[in-house]
Amino acid sequence: MSFKDDLKVCSESVSREIEAFLPAEEGFQKTIFEACNYSVINGGKRLRPIMMQSVYRLCRGEERPYTDDDREILVPFMAAIEMIHSSSLVHDDLPCMDNDVLRRGVPSTWAKFGEDMGTLAGDGLMIYAFETASKSKAPAEAKAEAVRILAQKTGIYGMIGGQTVDVQLTGKRPSKEQLEFIYRLKTGALIEASFMIGAVLAGADQKTVSLLEEAACCIGMAFQIQDDILDVTATEGELGKPIGSDAANGKVTWLTYYGMEQSVQDVKDYTQKALNIIREIGQDPFLEALLIYLIDRKS
Ligand code: IPE
Ligand code: IPE
Ligand code: MG
Ligand code: MG
Ligand code: MG
Repeated sequence: MSFKDDLKVCSESVSREIEAFLPAEEGFQKTIFEACNYSVINGGKRLRPIMMQSVYRLCRGEERPYTDDDREILVPFMAAIEMIHSSSLVHDDLPCMDNDVLRRGVPSTWAKFGEDMGTLAGDGLMIYAFETASKSKAPAEAKAEAVRILAQKTGIYGMIGGQTVDVQLTGKRPSKEQLEFIYRLKTGALIEASFMIGAVLAGADQKTVSLLEEAACCIGMAFQIQDDILDVTATEGELGKPIGSDAANGKVTWLTYYGMEQSVQDVKDYTQKALNIIREIGQDPFLEALLIYLIDRKS
């Protein structure tokens, strides 16, 4: 079995765990439940919860088996990060943002439910993520710290901060420094949250958490540069989202400044930097294989 197959199995099992937290579609506000569930269920790769789980295992060490107690600590946060990620995509696709009508191979949430419900579903999912995280059975102090990280990396100092600068500079010419800032926040921050929360819930010390934040920042950069590359090299069928979206929106991307060859190299270099940091903490063959696989991902 190839790593791609391993990842598919892992994504499917994580999907089942996440979907168990989704709301029942009933009551007068049924439409918001349907729109939220539609946004989460449609076949994402589930990379952020998978990374959170891998880092949890890495930090907790091999000697203790993974038990139901671990699952009750971790899975609510895995579900929460995927809900927040999905909410960011719901808003990212809105006509006032990237104006994209296809996501994960199906109509984007606003294209299916309308702009009003798309906006509300994004808001709803983001908040419901915190309600879900609060169900974790982690010890109080670790849980409070994990929620703090989740909020900070999602909000105005994290993903939303990055999206703000991305939107404001669309059609303009951000400096290289601004472009890196956008990538670190709009994409890096949720990956940083995944790594840091996995570590905090496993009881890692502050130094380890900081090292993992740094590694995740590099993964975020690599991931967004690869996303830019795929926007021009992949097919709509492979990606499940429109290609050429960046050009259509007049966005300056990594390719604009650095060209294809250097961008491909940068994906490798950022990934290598992340791997070097992670290896200072420990060995996790699955996490390493995942990060290497992402360098050449086609979707
Ligand atoms: C897409 O993220 C948005 C970016 C941050 C580039 P993913 O590529 O992880 O999207 P899904 O969840 O698999 O659809
Ligand atoms: C991703 O940037 C940022 C977030 C969704 C937070 P993009 O706008 O490039 O993501 P895709 O390509 O639409 O998935
Ligand atoms: Mg965008
Ligand atoms: Mg977009
Ligand atoms: Mg993109």
